[in-house]
Amino acid sequence: MTSAPTIPDITLNNGVAIPQLGFGVFQIDPKDTEAAVLAALETGYRHIDTAEMYGNEKEVGRALRASGLDRSDVFVTSKLNNGYHAYGDALAAFSRSLGDLAMEYLDLFLVHWPMPAVGDYTETWRAMEEIYRSGRVKAIGVSNFQIGHLDRLFQETSVVPAVNQIEVHPYLAQDELRAFGADHGIATEAWSPIAQGKVLDNAVIKAIATRVERTPAQVTLRWHIQRGDIVFPKSVTRSRVEENIRLFDFELTRDDMAQITALDRGERIGPDPDTFNWVP
Ligand SMILES: NC(=O)c1ccc[n+]([C@@H]2O[C@H](COP(=O)([O-])OP(=O)(O)OC[C@H]3O[C@@H](n4cnc5c(N)ncnc54)[C@H](OP(=O)(O)O)[C@@H]3O)[C@@H](O)[C@H]2O)c1
Repeated sequence: MTSAPTIPDITLNNGVAIPQLGFGVFQIDPKDTEAAVLAALETGYRHIDTAEMYGNEKEVGRALRASGLDRSDVFVTSKLNNGYHAYGDALAAFSRSLGDLAMEYLDLFLVHWPMPAVGDYTETWRAMEEIYRSGRVKAIGVSNFQIGHLDRLFQETSVVPAVNQIEVHPYLAQDELRAFGADHGIATEAWSPIAQGKVLDNAVIKAIATRVERTPAQVTLRWHIQRGDIVFPKSVTRSRVEENIRLFDFELTRDDMAQITALDRGERIGPDPDTFNWVP
């Protein structure tokens, strides 16, 4: 294998640097997680995206220690699960995540879903602010927040989220929500960046891939990178983990970018945050 590429950082609104490309561990079985994360770290990834909901925080922590890397070399994100939308519950859940990861701090902690019918996410956010002030997390953010949810945070709380992690891929370009975030200093993290594989047989993406001599996954991930979003594709397949990091030695033209963005058809593969109120 050739040497690992240099992955650019994005600077968040509080000055914290986050690698623009990371590795996601949703739907990786806990028994496979340590090996998968270790493979990603060996390949050169330095940013791991997990969540209490994924049930594999312990294994993520184990992989990091097995890698021999310093804690400070890897950016680690986890998320507050859906049943903890109350002040004390959120504080306790953060401590549990830290304990399961066996880490002294997290780089980023997110409210996983707004859960409007389950609790008051502004109360939850005030707990996130307290966690942030405690110094045990470098940045706090949200996930799956719509413009209305963000507006309420702006009106009723004080810390502006550093990121909003939302579903984004060529079939769901999310340009309005991304622009709203950018206007308020909130970086967009694009989850399911290749739509769990669903965009890879698209004729437009395949044609561009043929022309630039890359795979459809690389073209799609490069589209995200050139839009300035943060991505963390998931794969348990070593060759794909290596493929998905090779994004920094080619470029898409303005026309390629426009053609891929034009594939937007408002199609979600995940739930709608306005109505999703599922507690595991
Ligand atoms: N905040 C949220 O609510 C939320 C929701 C969903 C996801 N996320 C985060 O976003 C991360 C990524 O999203 P995701 O896991 O849903 O979907 P994804 O990264 O878009 O796609 C993962 C799927 O694509 C396959 N794949 C990966 N690389 C490929 C390649 N180069 N060629 C062909 N197939 C490839 C993987 O298969 P194999 O593994 O079999 O190789 C897997 O089935 C998650 O792991 C998680 O960290 C967050």
